[in-house]
Amino acid sequence: MSSIFRKKSVAELTSGATPLRRTLRTMDLTFLGIGAIIGTGIFVLTGKGALTAGPALSLSFLIAAICCGFAGLCYAEFASIAPVAGSAYTYSYVAFGEVIAFIIGWDLILEYALGAATVSVGWSGYFVNLLDNMGIHIPTVLTAAAGTTPGVNTVFNLPAFLIVILITWIISIGINSTKRVNDTMVILKLAVIVLFIICTVWFIKPHNWVPFSPYGWFSTHAGTKAGIIPAASIVFFAFIGFDSVASSAEETINPSKTLPRGILLSLLISTVLYIIMTLIMTGVVKYTVFNKFLNAPILAVLASTGQTWLSVIVSIGAILGMTTVILVQLYGQSRITYSMSRDGLFPKFFGEVSDKYKTPFKGTWFFGVITAIAGGFINLNILSELVNIGTLTAFILVSAGVLWMRKTQPDLHRGFRAPGVPVTPIIAIIFCLVLIAGLNWETWVRFLVWFAIGMVLYFLYGRKHSLMN
Ligand code: ALA
Repeated sequence: MSSIFRKKSVAELTSGATPLRRTLRTMDLTFLGIGAIIGTGIFVLTGKGALTAGPALSLSFLIAAICCGFAGLCYAEFASIAPVAGSAYTYSYVAFGEVIAFIIGWDLILEYALGAATVSVGWSGYFVNLLDNMGIHIPTVLTAAAGTTPGVNTVFNLPAFLIVILITWIISIGINSTKRVNDTMVILKLAVIVLFIICTVWFIKPHNWVPFSPYGWFSTHAGTKAGIIPAASIVFFAFIGFDSVASSAEETINPSKTLPRGILLSLLISTVLYIIMTLIMTGVVKYTVFNKFLNAPILAVLASTGQTWLSVIVSIGAILGMTTVILVQLYGQSRITYSMSRDGLFPKFFGEVSDKYKTPFKGTWFFGVITAIAGGFINLNILSELVNIGTLTAFILVSAGVLWMRKTQPDLHRGFRAPGVPVTPIIAIIFCLVLIAGLNWETWVRFLVWFAIGMVLYFLYGRKHSLMN
């Protein structure tokens, strides 16, 4: 049996013609990035983040952004070496060999599929709230997974389930419709965020920012981790998604230039908006208020300013914002399993491109349905942390991959070179490790279980069926 560390060459990767259509440019990718980035992280998790760090939450966002910025530069370099579908999975096949690539691919499934499920739950929270405002009531048992709200009998999150099914359908019928739907929603989402900022900034009371950092960098409060770092570990979720831009390499025009630009631009825009928004949120109300608004913290801010009319508009923006996140995540998901299947590590089923739609139709539906069911039954907080640890692990491997490739293949053509190597990837790795340390130990254990399942699949299926045999 050949080595589990067998590698692909870059030439091998970039040779074969791709059956996917090349239509995406820098602006499209930036939109795809923003579509993937701004969502449940800012609209929902800021509540928990504020309770964890206090007003210093904006620093937590900054730390998570720095982590992603350095990792993003590494992603961009890797994406420019091997501009083919599959993102970090594909890159690590070149840098480290098959088993590590499989681990990354498996991590990315956690990030995208379970990430989309998590966001669908956040989506459902705002959606149910909006319908309530309009006098339409969904039976409570169908508004959330069982056991998520103390004292309330819930069974299944029907809105979360249905939104994932709808988006799966959109993605499965082709990239052009995906792009159009995404672009429209991203514009609306940005407009609503800017509106929120303009309408609430006047209500900041600086005394709400005092004490700015009630729990310091890292401490324990009420039996759980608290402080700026643990909050950064939570709100890291808000930045997840820029990497999915890299998964669309095979559908991008001139990917070696376009991909890095799209990744960095979308990250920069989101970071600026997040920092402004969290400063406003913790400045307008006392951070402890979010305890009662964990499903929709933004609405707590609007309620306190008396602008209830704005709540409806912002809710619609949040709903659209989270819709695009689900869209891009499910899109990234289908391309990862497409790539893994093309390499023989996953069954052929996931890689079959439909003649009619030019998309991996069956694989898209397979994971779409699983994600929808997960969205119906999951607890948002547990899953967002699990998604974070999976993504952070992928970032560490990508950053290490850049270091390794510079050392072992220095002459390789790179359409984009991350500045400051080796310092850049080393900083990325350190930040990722710090953020992993800020997560709860239960999350580490769940992640190890996920990892173990992946290894069983690799050794029972992937290793035997790999095209590298
Ligand atoms: N960054 C995405 C969000 O916050 C996953 O919803």
